[in-house]
Amino acid sequence: MVMGINGKFPGPTIRVKVGDIVRVDVTNKLNTEGVVIHWHGIKQRETPWSDGTASISQCAIAPGETFTYRFTADKAGTYFYHGHYGMQRSAGLYGSLIVDVADGEKEPFEYDGEFCLLLSDYWHQNVHQQEVGLSSLPFRWINESQSLLMNGRGQYNCSLASRYNESATLPQCAPNVLSVFPNRTYRLRIASTTSLASLNLAIGNHKMYVVEADGNYVNRTEVTDIDIYSGESYSVLFTADQIPYDNFWISAGVRARLPQTPQALALLNYIPTPESKFPLSPPPVTPRWDDYGRSKSFALNITAAAGTPRPPKSHERRIVLLSTQNKFNGHSVWAINNVSLSLPVTPYLGAIRYDIKDAYDQTPPPENFPDWYNVSAPPANPNTNVGDGAYVLVNGTTVDIILQNANMLEPGASEVHPWHMHGHDFWVLGYGEGRFAEEDEKRFNLTTAPLKNTAVIFPFGWTALRFVADNPGVWAFHCHIEPHLHMGMGVVIAEGLDQIRAMNVSRDALSCGLTGKMFAAEDARR
Ligand code: C2O
Ligand code: CU
Repeated sequence: MVMGINGKFPGPTIRVKVGDIVRVDVTNKLNTEGVVIHWHGIKQRETPWSDGTASISQCAIAPGETFTYRFTADKAGTYFYHGHYGMQRSAGLYGSLIVDVADGEKEPFEYDGEFCLLLSDYWHQNVHQQEVGLSSLPFRWINESQSLLMNGRGQYNCSLASRYNESATLPQCAPNVLSVFPNRTYRLRIASTTSLASLNLAIGNHKMYVVEADGNYVNRTEVTDIDIYSGESYSVLFTADQIPYDNFWISAGVRARLPQTPQALALLNYIPTPESKFPLSPPPVTPRWDDYGRSKSFALNITAAAGTPRPPKSHERRIVLLSTQNKFNGHSVWAINNVSLSLPVTPYLGAIRYDIKDAYDQTPPPENFPDWYNVSAPPANPNTNVGDGAYVLVNGTTVDIILQNANMLEPGASEVHPWHMHGHDFWVLGYGEGRFAEEDEKRFNLTTAPLKNTAVIFPFGWTALRFVADNPGVWAFHCHIEPHLHMGMGVVIAEGLDQIRAMNVSRDALSCGLTGKMFAAEDARR
C-alpha cells in the first residue's frame, strides 16, 4: 500500500523557475487521517505557514479539506516534496520538485539533457503497522526495507537477467531506462527521500562530476560513486563516452547499515543499442556498508563553488545538540539533550502569532549536555524526558549548532543520522571524532564550507553547522530517518518572535487546537 497524489506514485514532478510564486492546492482524500506536504529545501521566506509541517507550521489538513500552499521558488536546484505528518513520507507521499534558473539565466555548467532519480525505500508492511510497532511495548523495529526504489520503481524477487527486459519476463521486474546519445553530457538529479536507508549510487563504467548539493553549486569534483543520505540531493554530470555503445547498470545500495535489501537498478541505454540488450558489465558493487572512512572523505570533498557566500567569521550563539537513544516509560525513543520531541496539538507558528502560552512548554530545551556525560558509552541512566519546548533565536543572530553523536543503548554501537533543517541552508564547517572540544573550532572551514540543508553525523562523531537566523518562522530541525523522527529525534526552532507576531499568518493553517478554539470563539461573538 502506498499513498498517491493525483492517482500517481510517486507524486507528479513539479517543475518551476526561480522567482515563480508556486501555488499548490492540496485536497485530502484520505478518509481517516490528516495530511500536510513539506517542500523540502524551499526556504519559505515570508511564508512560514506554507512549510507543511504538522504541529509546527500548520494543522494537518482534515479529510475532505483543501489547503493552499503558496511560496516563492527561491533558489535553482534539485528538491523534493513529501508528507510531514505521522510517517506519511514512508507511506510513499513524495515527489520531485525541480527549480530551474530564471529566464535569461544560465546554470554554471553545460549539459545536453537531464534525468531525475528520486530514491526511496519500500516495505511490504504498511506504515500504520510500522508506527504501532515503534511505539509498542515490547518495541517492534521495522527492519530493513524489502526494496529500494528509483522514481518509485523497484524490484522484489527478480533475477538480474529478468530485470533488463520487460517483454522477456515480468513487467514488474523491468528497470527504469535512461536513454542517452553517445558523447553527450547529462545531468543526473538525484534526491533521497528514504525512510531509513543511506545509499551509494554509481553508474557502471562512467565517472561522475558532482556539481550541486541540496540546491547549492559545489566545486566540480570527479567521483566514481556518491553517498546520499535521506534528505540530501545532488546533481552529477556524466558523459556517455563508452565505446562500444552498450547498456550499463546504474546501481544504488545500502550504506551505514548491514544491507539486507538488494540494490536498486536502473539501465543506462546508449541509443541506438536496444534496451533489451543485457549489459556487458555487472552492476557496480556498493562499497562496504561500514567503510565510514570512505564516506567521510566523500563528505569532505564537497566544497562550495566560487561565488558562494562565505560563513560569518564567528558565531554569536552556540547550541550543542547531543543525540541519544533512550527509554521513556519503557518505550524506545531518541532524545536531544535529554528531551525526546513530542509535538503539541496547536502549531507553534499559531501559538506564537497569537501569544497563546499554554500551547507548548515556554521553557526552551537545554543548550548543551552535562560535562560528565560520556559520549562513548551507553547512557548511564537510559531514561529520558519527553518535551515540546522550542529553541528561540533572535532575528539576525549567527548561530552555530554542534551535532554530537553518542553511543546507543547497546555498548559499542552508534549510527549515522542525517539532520535536515527547515527554513535554512547552513554552512557545514566540519566533522570530527569523539566529543566536540573548544579547540576544534580552530579547524572549522571558513573558506570553502558548503551550504547544505541536510548534513550527516557519523557514528561517535560530531558535525558543526553555522547559519544566520534571518528567516522569521518556526522551523523543524530533525533526523531525516523517518522512524527516528517519529521516536523523538528532532528539535523546533522559533526564529524572530517579534517578526512572527507581526505576520499575516494564514488562518486556514490554524484551525486546530487552541488557535482553532480561539477562531471559533471569535466567530461565535460575531
Ligand atoms: Cu524532508 Cu522535515 O523534512
Ligand atoms: Cu537518526
